[in-house]
Amino acid sequence: MRTGQQIKTVAPKPTEIWRHRHILDIDDFSREEIEFVFQTTRAMKEVLSRPIKRVPALRGKTLITLFYEPSTRTRLSFELAAKNLGADAASLSAPASSVAKGESLVDTLSTLQALGADIVVMRHPQSGAPYIATKYMEASMVNAGDGWHAHPTQALLDIYTIQEHKGDLKGLKVVIVGDIMHSRVARSNIWGLTTMGVEVTLCCPPTLLPTGLGGEHSQLPPVKIEHDIERALDGADAVMALRLQLERQQSGLLPTIREYIQLYQLNQTRLARAKPDALVLHPGPVNEGVEIASAVAHGPQSVINEQVTNGVAVRMALLYILAGSPKQ
Ligand code: CP
Repeated sequence: MRTGQQIKTVAPKPTEIWRHRHILDIDDFSREEIEFVFQTTRAMKEVLSRPIKRVPALRGKTLITLFYEPSTRTRLSFELAAKNLGADAASLSAPASSVAKGESLVDTLSTLQALGADIVVMRHPQSGAPYIATKYMEASMVNAGDGWHAHPTQALLDIYTIQEHKGDLKGLKVVIVGDIMHSRVARSNIWGLTTMGVEVTLCCPPTLLPTGLGGEHSQLPPVKIEHDIERALDGADAVMALRLQLERQQSGLLPTIREYIQLYQLNQTRLARAKPDALVLHPGPVNEGVEIASAVAHGPQSVINEQVTNGVAVRMALLYILAGSPKQ
């Protein structure tokens, strides 16, 4: 193999740690599996640092992205990740496909299977849709966001970005502030961060807090809840602002956007309550001037663009691991 074509990885073989044929959420990922993804991501970052950012690890494999909702970061980074690994990548935007003529999800997936898909990356507005999809196809399914439920690859790139700056994650304080109820990113981050030993604090108006938190029937791992943003940010190592998902808001959850900004916007004064080297994250897309002040989004503590860059390497790592998975 010529120079520039190999992945310099000392990562263990997938079979030794990895148990997944699909990536549906990270609620069932072990700490060792997350570390394995990060170790493989570091190898992918080395590939991306080369003049020719390509390896043939997935040559002969076909990846199809199937998006029922808009996306910039997730869709493009999966397509770039697949191409960087030598796979054939094709994309389908559901609104511009035969879905618009009434084709069902199951028939669409059967069609992708018949076209030779090895991996399907799907975003769907219904929570649970990727789980149903796995019953109707042989290909590996990667959940690129399902309703309010999960966005596992986003959480992995978020946590990877924090680890890159902070090293050991255990004992760090990470605050997630914003529209948590409607956020699949928040749910997947809560699972991933707590698995890695992070202390997670949620901060939002009571009306934007998910139901099912706390108690023996909790649907999420234990987290702290602090509705006062100044108190929430005290001593934080990282803060993740979430987009106010106006398209998912029901009436009555917020008095006005102006009041939300007054009480919950991540601005410079509030950020000063966190540690001086605290990271500022946002999964994007950002409503600048609503959930986050422009000066903070573009300030020295912001790693928002690094999150996007890391998204390609993390997704390369996941595709590489999935392709090597013995259950494929
Ligand atoms: N964070 C995220 O999922 O962004 P996109 O909607 O642009 O993919």
